[in-house]
Amino acid sequence: MTTTAAQTPALHKLTVDQVECRNKVVLVRVDFNVPLKEGKVGDDTRIRESLPTIRHLMGKGAKVVLMSHLGRPKGVTPGLSLAPVARRVGELLGVPVAFSPTVVGAEARKAIDGLKPGAVLLLENLRFHPQEEQNDPAFAKALAECADLYVSDAFGTVHRAHASTAGVAAFFPKAAAGFLIAKELDFLGRALHSPESPFVAILGGAKVGDKIAVIRSLLQRADRLLIGGAMAYTFLKAMGHQVGTSLLDEPHLELAKELMAEAEQLRKELLLPVDHLVAREAKPGVAAEPSGIDIPPDRMGLDIGPETVGRFVAAIRTARMVVWNGPMGMFELPAFQGGTFAIARALAESKAVTIVGGGDSAAAVAEAGVADRIAHISTGGGASLEFLEGRKLPGVEVLTNV
Ligand code: 3PG
Repeated sequence: MTTTAAQTPALHKLTVDQVECRNKVVLVRVDFNVPLKEGKVGDDTRIRESLPTIRHLMGKGAKVVLMSHLGRPKGVTPGLSLAPVARRVGELLGVPVAFSPTVVGAEARKAIDGLKPGAVLLLENLRFHPQEEQNDPAFAKALAECADLYVSDAFGTVHRAHASTAGVAAFFPKAAAGFLIAKELDFLGRALHSPESPFVAILGGAKVGDKIAVIRSLLQRADRLLIGGAMAYTFLKAMGHQVGTSLLDEPHLELAKELMAEAEQLRKELLLPVDHLVAREAKPGVAAEPSGIDIPPDRMGLDIGPETVGRFVAAIRTARMVVWNGPMGMFELPAFQGGTFAIARALAESKAVTIVGGGDSAAAVAEAGVADRIAHISTGGGASLEFLEGRKLPGVEVLTNV
């Protein structure tokens, strides 16, 4: 079936509420890649977002086997064990969650076989096995062998073709999406396939190279594209402005020029900063100095300036849909958080459908105290960007179409 503008991919995927799971072992890929602080979960947002799926399965009498990665270990790394995460999941669910220190093999099998209907077990960090990231078929088969059903709710990791996100699905007759994946695809799918107009997209952050493709995609879809944060300096430099010692993505200067030409051809408005807050260096305690569009040679841009804030906020006020990914400056330094927080507040005050993606922007709306006034905060950084680029996501592709 072809996807029309009014449809979203979420509607074409089997979801967890459509499968019979009583007494069945359900293998659930979640994204519990959460920050740990002194052996405890620092931010449990991703865990909380998976709870509806886990609770649903528990309520239906499934034996729930959760699996996730944590960090990017090279082999077994005790500091990246998921054991503290199992404890936090248990606290949030209000029931103890068993933990299996092994992922596959006899010991893991024994732990799974011992599960009662409604009980939950978390397997150790999948990435302790290099076969996970290699999408090794034998490893995927070993993961699948212990279960009757496969559910994926790991939106943050659907852009990875790994054994637990992609390969494993081939060993089940059906693969269902959890509620979190369904919600993410619904909101992000609206932005990609049927955005309400005027659609304003705001991009920032330091990872310039990572975002060039999403700029190209959003230029097609959005009415206005607002660019702030470190990536803006690459565009300004490409226009011939002075950017001082600001962060630059030299290899993409030409591409930035092309993108600006594309915007003009498409008659899309591409808004760049017209002023900045700058400093000699980016370190705690430095004072923010105002700068016009051209930054002095010994200064670096660290936030958008007040006139830019005014322009960006005015653009957001006109919108019926807003997508935001990436902070406007180095907001971890209090002197340079004003631009990012102003954008967060403008989204909160907007009547538009507001979607925030990426760990930094999600942290910024939380720090600005407006997270509960944003329509959707994506749990996926890279995943939400690749989705908005229009790329196929391996972890979504393997889910059963309905
Ligand atoms: C994330 O935090 O973006 C996801 O968990 C994916 O992690 P990865 O970039 O290490 O694959």
